[in-house]
Amino acid sequence: MRTRFDPSLARDQDSPSGVNERPSEQLLGQYIPLLYHHNMLQDADRVKAFRDAIDLVVQPGMHCVELGGGTGILSSFAARQGARVTCVERNPELVSCGRRFVQLNNLDEQIHVVQADASSFVPDTPADVVICEMLHVGLLREKQAQVIDAFKRNHMRAYGERLPVFLPEASILMVQPVEQTFCFFGYEAPIPVFQAPQLDHPDTRELTALHPYASIAYDEVIPRGFDVREPLDVIRPGRVNALRFVTQNVIAVDVPGQRAITWPNQCLVLPIESAFDVVADQSVQTSFRYTCGDSVERLADAIRCEHAGSGGTVRTAGAHIAD
Ligand SMILES: C[S@@+](CC[C@H](N)C(=O)[O-])C[C@H]1O[C@@H](n2cnc3c(N)ncnc32)[C@H](O)[C@@H]1O
Repeated sequence: MRTRFDPSLARDQDSPSGVNERPSEQLLGQYIPLLYHHNMLQDADRVKAFRDAIDLVVQPGMHCVELGGGTGILSSFAARQGARVTCVERNPELVSCGRRFVQLNNLDEQIHVVQADASSFVPDTPADVVICEMLHVGLLREKQAQVIDAFKRNHMRAYGERLPVFLPEASILMVQPVEQTFCFFGYEAPIPVFQAPQLDHPDTRELTALHPYASIAYDEVIPRGFDVREPLDVIRPGRVNALRFVTQNVIAVDVPGQRAITWPNQCLVLPIESAFDVVADQSVQTSFRYTCGDSVERLADAIRCEHAGSGGTVRTAGAHIAD
């Protein structure tokens, strides 16, 4: 299972929010080192979900554009379905690697690997399908939202209102207060913890149901960020000391087959500043605000969690921050 949270390996110098950032916040997940790409190739759940979705949606003769093609594996599935594929990648190391693997697989007639920033790239002909996997829990760190948003604008300017099909089609972002064990061989350290995507975890006790705070359909307006203020009902007593963020991605919906092809990101558990006890029938006032692509640290700094009632119960009308 891939973990993309390792600032020591990140190399990106772009800052999404401008100046005055802590050094680690500049190391966001846009230049993913080659070694991570090896892990991504081996993440069978991820690759299979995308392959199944591509097999379902991509038809012979289509023009498929992949934004952030990496090693080219997702482009290869589209090419094997008989599509012409434009695989856009910004990182030169990955461009060379992608070209080498595409050739090794005898797909260089069908796949054109282009070195470019996907946010400003305009394909030579309209795209039928766009594949973009820059997904991180909560849409943090990577630029899925911004890149797709920019691509849609550029595509519409060049080719009119009709948009391609996007894979993934949607992401659903959820949150819940939890009681988390932050003990490492007897050593207490409340730190951000990434977990395998299933909700049952021996170190985590769910104290409320999962609260879906945003559903993003990539072919509709994509929010710039999220502003969440929500009282969440306690389902079992415990000590709230963290928030768990859970993201489910709908890669494609197979309507005749009556199934959704999904792939969840790793969950992220973030400690809160002051822990407190709750009992059933109480609610936890849960608040945070962040922009898509922000760092984990920025979200961690923005979290406020307390008994609902201590500062009055507050709820946001809609969680999305628009442009
Ligand atoms: C999570 S990886 C996915 C790679 C590949 N699609 C796969 O599934 O194995 C995201 C890729 O997007 C690339 N990327 C990020 N921002 C980009 C941008 N603005 N333009 C082009 N490529 C970008 C990264 O270099 C990385 O290779």
